[in-house]
Amino acid sequence: MPKRMLINAFSMNCVSHIQQGLWVRDDTRQTEYTQLDPWVELAQILEKGCFDALFLADVVGVYDDYKGGPETSIIHGMQVPVNDPAMLIPAMAHATKNLGFAFTSSVLQSHPFSFARQMSTLDHLTNGRVAWNIVTSYLPNAGANFGLGGLPSHNDRYDLADEYIDVTYKLWEGSWEDDAVLRDRERGIYADPAKIHKINHVGKHYEVAGPHLSEPSPQRTPLLFQAGSSTRGRQFAAKHAECVFIIESRETLKGRANVITDIRNQATRLGRNPEDILFIQGVSPVVGGTEAEAKAKEAEYLEQFSTEGSLAHLSGSVGVDLGAINLDEPLQKIDSQSMRGFVKSLIESTPDKTQTFRDLIRTRISGQFLTGAPEQIADALQRWHGLGVDGFNIVYSITPGTFVDFIDSVVPILQSRGLMQKEYTPGPLRQKIFGNAKLPARHPAAAYRRG
Ligand SMILES: Cc1cc2nc3c(=O)[nH]c(=O)nc-3n(C[C@H](O)[C@H](O)[C@H](O)COP(=O)(O)O)c2cc1C
Repeated sequence: MPKRMLINAFSMNCVSHIQQGLWVRDDTRQTEYTQLDPWVELAQILEKGCFDALFLADVVGVYDDYKGGPETSIIHGMQVPVNDPAMLIPAMAHATKNLGFAFTSSVLQSHPFSFARQMSTLDHLTNGRVAWNIVTSYLPNAGANFGLGGLPSHNDRYDLADEYIDVTYKLWEGSWEDDAVLRDRERGIYADPAKIHKINHVGKHYEVAGPHLSEPSPQRTPLLFQAGSSTRGRQFAAKHAECVFIIESRETLKGRANVITDIRNQATRLGRNPEDILFIQGVSPVVGGTEAEAKAKEAEYLEQFSTEGSLAHLSGSVGVDLGAINLDEPLQKIDSQSMRGFVKSLIESTPDKTQTFRDLIRTRISGQFLTGAPEQIADALQRWHGLGVDGFNIVYSITPGTFVDFIDSVVPILQSRGLMQKEYTPGPLRQKIFGNAKLPARHPAAAYRRG
């Protein structure tokens, strides 16, 4: 029996997440993001389709690099307006029994004491079905929104993340002992004060006395996701993450020093097991009854695609104002020497230099699509799986349509090949995925346990 794939839906509490420009279509519910109904219905659809989790991205600032301001992002609803992802979870959890809910929260955005309490509350309310996608932010406006005068340096952000996560571990794992809560009605004793501890954290950024205000929740520490693949990002993942969200090409994964091998090797050196970390690749399936039907659908999406919205997204993600580039000039005429690394390599890796930057963006977007008949999509996912990828975050073009198509046609094939679960394992999210509700003793959070 092959190891099963983890399958998550990737979304965001906003109008336009990744595939920019498609929100205008009649067959997508993106503009209803402020309502509970589409979210609750999505959760129920995903649970019927045996998905592991709904994974919610988030940002806490606007993308304002492109053309020197936020206007393009605002016009295209490109990740702004964006509402709080965590607030959606209780309603969706109430309408489901097994689906997990991963949400993104940056270490810049809230104090670890409040965040730890918010997480524990959600872990209680969902019976242990929450996961935290730990990010360090990349938008300068995010830093400016929290009084940091812009984005702290990459190193400072990861230093902060190291301390932040330590505080949360102390609260989740080290404050309340397992048998602290007695609920003894006869003696009228709810909890035993001798088993509830202050954490007395004193660090460079935070001082937190404790105790944690929430009693132990089913998972204590939520399932830990991480996204970020720089040297520091990989070190952080190796130490803390249980699931790592990656967007890699098949070629890079074939290389010996690829991100999966690297993080697993580092984790092993830290005393963890290689199988303690799962790697989840982002893919954007466009499924049709036949290949021709799928290609026609893809062509329609590309036609409606917003190049401007996409450039605003890309500019903010790489911290370069792509507004300075003449979109309709052939690549050979663009002075790539003056470009920062990512854009330079993007231009240089394009064989056909008669293409314009506008064409390049289109190719890049279509390159993200996994387009075909259901069998072809299942085959492609199986090939990724063969390269060591443990699962997928499904990026939508239209919602819930992309997920519905995938569930109706690709999921049964994956299930028949033994590659996807047909029913859920009982228990909290970590138990469904790793077999235990709590973090293993070899994870650094476990060092704070008492009793
Ligand atoms: C696949 C992927 C998804 C990400 N999702 C988010 C997100 O939703 N919100 C966010 O603020 N950062 C997100 N990030 C950014 C990272 O968490 C991190 O802050 C950024 O990549 C810088 O880290 P790095 O230099 O280690 O890659 C994502 C990164 C990757 C690779």
